[in-house]
Amino acid sequence: MYRSHSCGELNASHINTEVTLAGWVQKSRDKGFMNWVDLRDRYGVTQLIFDESRSQKEVFELAKTLGREFVIQAKGTVIEREAKNPNMSTGDIEILVTELKILNASITPPFTIEDETDGGEDIRMKYRYLDIRRNPVKNNLLFRHKVAMEVRKYLSDLDFCEVETPYLIKSTPEGARDFVVPSRMNEGQFYALPQSPQTFKQLLMVGGMDKYFQIVKCFRDEDLRADRQPEFTQIDCEMAFVEQEDILNVFEGLTRHLLKEIKGIEVEKFPRITYEYAMKTYGNDKPDIRFGMEFGELNEFAQHKDFSVFNSAELVVGIAVPGAGNYTRKEIDGLIDWIKRPQIGASGMVYVKCNEDGTFKSSVDKFYDQDDLTNWSKATGAQSGDMIFVLSGPADKTRTQLSALRMELAARLGLRKSDEFAPLWVVDFPLLELDEESGRYHAMHHPFTSPKPEDMSLLETEPGKVRANAYDMVLNGNEIGGGSIRIHDKATQQLMFKYLGFTPEQAEDQFGFLMNAFQYGAPPHGGLAFGLDRLVSILGGQETIRDFIAFPKNNSGRDVMIDAPSVIDELQLNELHIKLDL
Ligand code: AMO
Repeated sequence: MYRSHSCGELNASHINTEVTLAGWVQKSRDKGFMNWVDLRDRYGVTQLIFDESRSQKEVFELAKTLGREFVIQAKGTVIEREAKNPNMSTGDIEILVTELKILNASITPPFTIEDETDGGEDIRMKYRYLDIRRNPVKNNLLFRHKVAMEVRKYLSDLDFCEVETPYLIKSTPEGARDFVVPSRMNEGQFYALPQSPQTFKQLLMVGGMDKYFQIVKCFRDEDLRADRQPEFTQIDCEMAFVEQEDILNVFEGLTRHLLKEIKGIEVEKFPRITYEYAMKTYGNDKPDIRFGMEFGELNEFAQHKDFSVFNSAELVVGIAVPGAGNYTRKEIDGLIDWIKRPQIGASGMVYVKCNEDGTFKSSVDKFYDQDDLTNWSKATGAQSGDMIFVLSGPADKTRTQLSALRMELAARLGLRKSDEFAPLWVVDFPLLELDEESGRYHAMHHPFTSPKPEDMSLLETEPGKVRANAYDMVLNGNEIGGGSIRIHDKATQQLMFKYLGFTPEQAEDQFGFLMNAFQYGAPPHGGLAFGLDRLVSILGGQETIRDFIAFPKNNSGRDVMIDAPSVIDELQLNELHIKLDL
């Protein structure tokens, strides 16, 4: 037996008990005649004491040789500490060690393994196994496990069955590039790693599984961001014989359950807004609604005066920033510079101070009188003491820029509180989106998403206007999940591929298996997938998913610990029939 207790569980009630502990030496303090060692494992830290007068000589001497991160086993008696530490659960006691065994030595770790470490991101990633010994990382992994367990419990109780689907598949068009795997046995052919199990879960519905879920790895070869990893995990779900309303209710229930069990927070019914409303009101299809600053469109009140910038703009739109009326000229100029950066790309910004006495002072006082500005303040919902910022230009671009400003100001004003949760559904997404480069329409969600029947007639004439039975769940400004009601008949699916620019042969070649299955009694079905990494990190009060993944990739898509990707040897390449031309 390596241990009788963990390093996190002993307290005053154990005094005089003989115990055996095992763990890592966090630090040791040598006072000559007395030596203390902090012993750490996953569960906590317990203080060991070695005393020249009370310990056996060889135990006392051995303790002096212990270095940081040595793995040891210590047997001894729980005694009351003289100097108690109220900040530790084991702070009332210490172990007077009678037997000590070094299970494994350690060379000096490259950074301190404490809550606050001296190690930078790169070094911690290279030695991720050491980083995982630190509380902040370890606790995130435990937190992730807790969320995953609650998900499994909730869905299993509702009769969802977890089914594994293959990783070596044919490409599914989810919008990103595939990671491909060469096949040794089929020369010149490749598998693709799934961007999601989309087609398989639909086939499970044809197979009569009725309610499916899977906590599953997905792979997408796309640029990394704080909320994106090339391999990430979905809570992937599908249900048969459902309409959109059923799906929204089930998964709103799951999210509400998680917020209650994990965060102890009860949330009201989730608001539902349309994609169109989201774009008009927040300039964004994943709005953060923990705070207001909703867009006010000002064309009506700002155009046809003498200000040519606004007159020539497709959209003039503003937000009222609470309490920002006292921003200094320097602060405002700073914001104007911020919004003119190439990443945002605005050409300028107009501002209106809403004075406490109900009057206004704007950067365009030459063109607008107090009545005009009163209208602006009404349209943006401004109160006295606020500042209205106004942008203008092409509608979509301007909304995107103002959305970025809204999020930036909210962050600066401390309105993005990590312990506040504001979930919502965004529904009625467009079915198709125009790719400016190719001039072709793409499926906005994926090609298996069904159009709204009442919009079908627009497919030929105004494809961009067709709405889909597609929805996203948004939490605190992040898309944490998305899904749709699917097409479940061959003819409509064929038609969809046609609109997406596939020839009948291409559609058959890539998705014949699915359309074929639809001919054998495919039930109406739909579903969604949550991004588990995103869900967990937001519930954990953070937005960087890397911190909640045991072994994440860095910004160049590399695992710096195992040094992947890497070259493979000639023999392997030959077996795979691959010739490199570098
Ligand atoms: P979608 O592509 O919207 O839908 O993905 C579902 C959710 O997965 C998360 N996500 C990611 N998380 C981390 N890193 C990434 N690179 C990444 N990409 C996506 C997001 C997203 O909301 N098959 C459909 C679902 C369906 O229709 O049922 C799908 O994959 O939180």
